[in-house]
Amino acid sequence: MDTLEAIRTRRSVRKFSDRPVEPEKLQAVLEAVQMAPSWANMQCWRFVVVEDPDMKAKISELSYVEAYFAPKGYKSNPSRKALAEAPVVIVACGVPTDSGDLRGQQYYLTDVGIATENLMLAAHAVGLGTVFVGVFDEENLGYLLDIPPEVRIVGLFPLGYPQEEPKGAPPRKSLDEIVHYEKWKG
Ligand SMILES: Cc1cc2nc3c(=O)[nH]c(=O)nc-3n(C[C@H](O)[C@H](O)[C@H](O)COP(=O)(O)O)c2cc1C
Repeated sequence: MDTLEAIRTRRSVRKFSDRPVEPEKLQAVLEAVQMAPSWANMQCWRFVVVEDPDMKAKISELSYVEAYFAPKGYKSNPSRKALAEAPVVIVACGVPTDSGDLRGQQYYLTDVGIATENLMLAAHAVGLGTVFVGVFDEENLGYLLDIPPEVRIVGLFPLGYPQEEPKGAPPRKSLDEIVHYEKWKG
């Protein structure tokens, strides 16, 4: 699969089979994050790979944040079950002091965002599926995984073989809505 095809066909996967992830495929995904570009090549990202079923179940529980979901009418995080059922969960973290902080923009989020896009595309390219889960109880997840308080948790990635073909892509804004040529117009 070439890069453009991977970008075009990747979808968020929230249902996984119990087929284990081969160590070499997990390694390929981790090597893809390692190669991402980053602020001054400081590589502020850190990852926790979780395969223990009890730990995955606890992570899954911490992905339901009532204060976020209840006002939106959601009963759960749409990826709550996925976090418990996927064979692997990758917890993506960033060290803010190991990246740029300029014009009020904290570039650790950019660094980890780029690395995790590599993660998602590499997973897809080797036949696996995943989804970026950005809603979770960061404080309690940090305690659960012994993540130091100065390290921020950016996203959770259940990883495994998709149980079903994901449906078509959710709608995207048209290029007219998101691209300006030469100068910002409108
Ligand atoms: C920063 C970020 C946070 C997200 N958080 C969640 C989440 O908490 N739960 C979930 O089920 N999906 C989450 N998603 C997945 C998006 O809903 C999904 O990417 C979007 O609907 C587009 O679908 P696609 O990935 O299949 O193209 C998140 C995606 C991003 C990039």
